[in-house]
Amino acid sequence: MGSLAARSSMAPPMVAASTEVETKPMNEGAPPQATVRTARPADSAAICRLVNAWADEGLTLRRTEEEIRVNSGEFVLAERPGYGPVACGALAVFSPSMAEIRSVAVEPMAKGTGAGRSVMVFLLDVARTLEVDEVVLLTKVPGFFARFGFHPIEPGELPGPFMEEAIAGRGRTIQGRTIMLRSLL
Ligand SMILES: CC(C)(COP(=O)(O)OP(=O)(O)OC[C@H]1O[C@@H](n2cnc3c(N)ncnc32)[C@H](O)[C@@H]1OP(=O)(O)O)[C@@H](O)C(=O)NCCC(=O)NCCS
Repeated sequence: MGSLAARSSMAPPMVAASTEVETKPMNEGAPPQATVRTARPADSAAICRLVNAWADEGLTLRRTEEEIRVNSGEFVLAERPGYGPVACGALAVFSPSMAEIRSVAVEPMAKGTGAGRSVMVFLLDVARTLEVDEVVLLTKVPGFFARFGFHPIEPGELPGPFMEEAIAGRGRTIQGRTIMLRSLL
């Protein structure tokens, strides 16, 4: 992390705080726009609801509101005017060269409207701004992430410390999930 901080202090990250995107309207007459922005601690409850809506199905890892509040700087949130939060995701920087995308979740009513895409595009922009070389993730929906340039890899291709801290250390298993990687170089 030390060298990342050094790199950041030389070239401060220029991550857009907020961006407006065109998506499909959630219902007839609803506006097509959504806004994606970096999350604030006050968004923790909303993010917690989005993430945990899919935890029983094993699609997301259940997270507590407190855990999200402490790590709120990692999260981005997509909102629709007049509706509220519709999607979230997180980028956890693991080393100067590697980050993990976590907790990508779309409000069930907003599935298929482009909310997931808007979060992925924003998270990859953040990763590029932080000059991360590679982004990894674990997922049960590899087809979605393949659309954003991720390809499946074997567990042995991940650095040992990542396996220990980011997977076993968070009580996760790889079982049933595809490990995917995207190079940003
Ligand atoms: C998977 C998920 C994030 C997708 O978000 P979404 O908003 O429904 O997807 P979008 O509308 O942005 O779709 C973007 C593209 O991905 C495709 N896509 C969406 N879900 C997909 C899936 N499960 N498998 C393959 N492709 C998928 C869409 O068809 C669309 O393709 P297009 O560009 O050709 O139109 C969302 O359905 C979700 O939250 N699922 C439950 C939680 C989950 O599994 N999260 C991932 C944790 S690792």
